[in-house]
Parts: sequence; C-alpha cells; structure tokens
Amino acid sequence: MYKCKFVLILFLISFPFFSYSHEGATGIIKERMDKFKESKNLMRTINKSFSEDNFNVITQSAKKLNKWANEMHKYFPKGSEASSSNKSEASDNIWSDPEGFKEAIEKFQISSAKLIKISQNKNIDDTVSSFREVAASCKGCHQQFRN
Ligand code: HEC
Repeated sequence: MYKCKFVLILFLISFPFFSYSHEGATGIIKERMDKFKESKNLMRTINKSFSEDNFNVITQSAKKLNKWANEMHKYFPKGSEASSSNKSEASDNIWSDPEGFKEAIEKFQISSAKLIKISQNKNIDDTVSSFREVAASCKGCHQQFRN
C-alpha cells in the first residue's frame, strides 16, 4: 500500500517535468534530425553513384534533397533551439539572424535544384562540381547555424 502511494507520487512529480520540457518541440527536433540523417545518406548515395556512373540515382537523390530544402524552414519553430533538455545542436543564430538562415536554406535549394538538372546531362565533371556545391551549402549552414 505504501509502496503504491510512493510510486504514484513519483509519477505525479515526474510527469509535469516531462510535459513542460518543450512539449511538441521534442517531436519536431527529432523529425528534423531524421531528415538531416537522411540527407547524409543521400549524399553518400550520390557520392557512390559517381563510380557506377549511375546518373539516374543521382537525379532521384537530388530531388529528395531539394524537397527537404524546400520544407526545411518549417522545422525550426521558435523555442526549438539547443538546450540542456534536448539533444538539439540548433544554434541561437537561427532565430537571431533569420535572414542569414533563410539565405543558407536558399543556397541548399538552389544547389540541389541545379544538381537535379545537371545530373540529367550525364556529364561526370559537371555533375561532380554541382554535387560539391550542394556539399558546400550543407557545410556553410552548419558553420553558422549548428553548434
Ligand atoms: C540551412 C541550414 C542547413 C543546411 C543547408 C543543412 N543543414 Fe544539416 N543541420 C542544420 C542544423 C541547424 C542542424 C542541427 C539540428 C538539431 O540538432 O536540431 C543540422 C544537423 C545535421 C546533422 C545531424 C543530425 C542529427 O542526428 O543530430 C546531419 C548529419 C546533417 N545536418 C547533415 C546535413 C547534410 C548532409 C546537408 C546537405 C545535404 C545539410 N545537413 C544541410 C542546418 C543545416
């Protein structure tokens, strides 16, 4: 009986703690992390496809990256920056410099759209340099906006 009450009290004490720690934000942070992990895999897939001259795979992967680039802005609501209660690495700069963040997203949008087009010409040199531009857009944003 006493044990039961103790567990119940513990539950009541700990529950508000969990619900207050960024309700909802936890969900969106996980969602964007999954999208970024997928981006990394897509970049690997593209990189592998050069040796196989598999331009079709490159085009399809670039389309997925471009789709993510176009919706990325929705995944950074206010209050979803990195904190001690989440595993996010999102820098405060995203919200203090919204124009800069928008530009970084645009570089990713433009470079991935370009890769979709260029990969269809099946020229390896052009496709490689276009792929490098996409990679630079990832890196550029991380330097400014990821902790
Ligand atoms: C406009 C900015 C921006 C662009 C462009 C961008 N990223 Fe990121 N990336 C971020 C931010 C911000 C985080 C941290 C998100 C968080 O932890 O909440 C992140 C996190 C990541 C992570 C870690 C995910 C995890 O599990 O914690 C990987 C991997 C990643 N990005 C890969 C990429 C790749 C590959 C590209 C390009 C194809 C890319 N990113 C483009 C901003 C960007």
